[in-house]
Amino acid sequence: MYNFLHVPKDTNFLAIFANVNKKVYIETYGCQMNVADTEVVFSILGKAGYVRTEAIEEADVIMANTCSIRDNAEQRILGRIDRFVVERRTRPVIIGIIGCMAERLKEDLLSGGKVDVVAGPDAYRRLPELLAAAAEGHPQIDVILSREETYADISPVRLDRNGVSAFISIMRGCNNVCSYCVVPYTRGVERSRDARSIVREACDCAQKGYKEVTLLGQNVDSYNFEGTTFAQLLGMVAQVSPSMRVRFSTSNPQDISDEVLLTMAAFPNICRHIHLPVQSGSDRILEKMRRRYTAAWYLERVARIREIMPDCAITTDVIAGFCSETEEDHRMTLDLFETVGFDAAFMFYYSERPGTLAARKYPDDVPIEVKTRRLNEIIDLQNRLSLESNKRDIGKELEVLVEGPSKRNPSELCGRAGSSKMCVWADSAHKAGDYVRVRVKDCTQATLLCELV
Ligand code: 5AD
Ligand code: SF4
Repeated sequence: MYNFLHVPKDTNFLAIFANVNKKVYIETYGCQMNVADTEVVFSILGKAGYVRTEAIEEADVIMANTCSIRDNAEQRILGRIDRFVVERRTRPVIIGIIGCMAERLKEDLLSGGKVDVVAGPDAYRRLPELLAAAAEGHPQIDVILSREETYADISPVRLDRNGVSAFISIMRGCNNVCSYCVVPYTRGVERSRDARSIVREACDCAQKGYKEVTLLGQNVDSYNFEGTTFAQLLGMVAQVSPSMRVRFSTSNPQDISDEVLLTMAAFPNICRHIHLPVQSGSDRILEKMRRRYTAAWYLERVARIREIMPDCAITTDVIAGFCSETEEDHRMTLDLFETVGFDAAFMFYYSERPGTLAARKYPDDVPIEVKTRRLNEIIDLQNRLSLESNKRDIGKELEVLVEGPSKRNPSELCGRAGSSKMCVWADSAHKAGDYVRVRVKDCTQATLLCELV
């Protein structure tokens, strides 16, 4: 039910009475940014009188916040729409596709009559009106991208059940034109959110008892709001509360500055973890990907990170089988992985995205069997590197933020170290949101097995 005791100032009562008790169900796909966007959408719809449900069977509005990054992500979501249509056969339901796929596929999503509302990432303020018009039987679409929208004034409805960890979106869009990537087309130009509104949101999280905030942007190092840089913003957020951890994602190898590294080193509550997507170890491929750095530059940045913070975890993203990739290029990627010794990696094979520079310019000429084999070689290598990285932690004492009971064994708790590594340990005394000190006794490739100290 709408909570009339806490009515926000800008509440639209007419809209509320039209929608009161209408239940919205949203499935979120893709990156953390999409999770943060779903929280914004729930906030916008909440002000218009909708309530959130986690049960698709009782929803009046069913939406998917979608991802276009690879073809298999899109195929999965297209399959889900058929499931949504099954619900609509039993009662009046509005089906909405929002986010990156909405932006990419536009009107095509409306043909076939399965979808009632299509809204791109900058159209969420209009959702109440789009849903209302669709309920009158008129399918609606808004895929206009904005140069200004940052949803700075919207207080997201946090979806983290434990109340431990919150996402804060600090910028939207992307001005890099990596040739393989659909994101600049689906999320538009880069814009930074007002630094004051970010710090205010971080203070609000601290007050509500959150113990960790993650600052989100496609390329956080290019954050700039009226002269405030990302390093300055990071420092400001770190000072909100010494007992609230700060994380951020994603950094770009060409842009990550010493200033950011020094700010991290200056604040113990900024987690020692940098996600630094490398994509390939071959300079020829990096150039074709339009990545604006070389393997040598990447290794220099890694060396600098380790010089300033010897205990900093480094993780990455990589794409196997990009256009024209040879065995030699692939070997260079494996060599770079070996040289860096990543703590973890997200690994993909290349999926051509229509409309991107690579799709227009280069044939997708590495056969799927070769892509898969190369990807598997990278995964095998990374599995070994992850295990080696975890083994190096055996004997160390770590501060861990408790997330809750471990999934495998309810008498154990789980939580992440500053490095983002998952830890489990036997414990009946602590709860989600507590900080505990543990010692690493053993490990698997995915988890540190610990004991309380
Ligand atoms: N094919 C495969 N992987 C991709 N990524 C981005 N675009 C593609 C694509 N077309 C990967 C990159 C990026 C991560 C979020 O997804 O590694 O860093
Ligand atoms: Fe996130 Fe990119 Fe997927 Fe959009 S396409 S949801 S920005 S990962």
